[in-house]
Amino acid sequence: MNRKILNIDEIDFSPSFEKLLKQNAIPPKFKQCTFDNYYPNKRYKSQKIVKEQLMEFIKRLEQFRIKKSRPRFFRGFYKSPKPKNIYLDGIYGVGKTHLLASLANRYSGKSLFLSFSELTYIIAFYKLKSVAEKITEKFDLILIDEFELDDPGDAMMGINFIREVDKTDSVIVTTSNTLPTQLGARKLDILLFKDRIGSLIKSFETYIIDGEDYRMSIKKTEFDSLYEDIETAFKSYKTKEKAKLIVDFEDLLAKLREVHPFRYNQLSYSLDALFIKNIRPFSEDEISDALRFSHLIDTLYYGDVDIFISGYYNLSNLFHPELKDGKFRTKIGRCLSRLSEKCTLIIHS
Ligand SMILES: Nc1ncnc2c1ncn2[C@@H]1O[C@H](COP(=O)(O)OP(=O)(O)O)[C@@H](O)[C@H]1O
Ligand SMILES: [Mg+2]
Repeated sequence: MNRKILNIDEIDFSPSFEKLLKQNAIPPKFKQCTFDNYYPNKRYKSQKIVKEQLMEFIKRLEQFRIKKSRPRFFRGFYKSPKPKNIYLDGIYGVGKTHLLASLANRYSGKSLFLSFSELTYIIAFYKLKSVAEKITEKFDLILIDEFELDDPGDAMMGINFIREVDKTDSVIVTTSNTLPTQLGARKLDILLFKDRIGSLIKSFETYIIDGEDYRMSIKKTEFDSLYEDIETAFKSYKTKEKAKLIVDFEDLLAKLREVHPFRYNQLSYSLDALFIKNIRPFSEDEISDALRFSHLIDTLYYGDVDIFISGYYNLSNLFHPELKDGKFRTKIGRCLSRLSEKCTLIIHS
């Protein structure tokens, strides 16, 4: 693809499952994250401890793989059991995803990185057994970012996936998804995780990272006065390796309805920047559209795509209060938090 400006209908939303898996290496936003550039905060001892435990985990996993590659007869001589799965817990911004990417960067074998919501969409499309089979055939280490526990249906899907993976030689490391606004939610998260995961808990170790949000709290929910209008911003944006795309909010929503959400990441693979014109709030009965949009923002965030939005509204009004405080509040809250980090708002002129 050489063209620098794309139309939404030019995006290929139909890659094969194999291609999708191949693309699921470490997402661009976290590609550079390693154990070496994770600097534990001295005030929180758990940061250094967890980092060391994770590096140790990789060694044990590598020893286990060496053992598995030996002829069956010799395996008895190796004392290398399969390491336990890991649940990395901690509040938002303490570096859980950074550490997850560090595992992938450090591990000499094959690892797969995907977000929990991506996993649930893939399972909904391809069915659990076949997804688990295909993934465990190819990858020894499965990294799942932001395991969601608030929706019992999704949580069950994730748990059944873990059950299938546990039957194989592959290992899972997953992170929690607690937002800073949810005071005391971390404790609840661990309890919920233990409760929901039930008998599977034996196959997990929980590592808790204490700390403060590493991200600087520059929240961009207000309008940016740098650009007069979105068309000018679009014209002046210089693409890097990929393309830029400008689309009307309603046309974007129509496209999102048409395409299965697990394919939304094709936008991130094609774009440096997405410009969305005429945004307007989601009403209380637009929950499906709101969830599709939040998943799109998730994939753009991992893809490190710049986002520009124009409209009459500021971001805090984007979702009706019933959506913001309802069943999917974690997803919606995460979407707003990611938008405030990544997006430039331009007032409609
Ligand atoms: N201890 C650390 N050393 C270096 N960078 C960090 C550290 N903790 C967090 N970061 C950086 O801060 C940002 C937020 O971290 P992230 O891993 O996304 O947090 P979480 O997943 O816990 O919400 C990332 O850009 C990450 O690279
Ligand atoms: Mg994270």
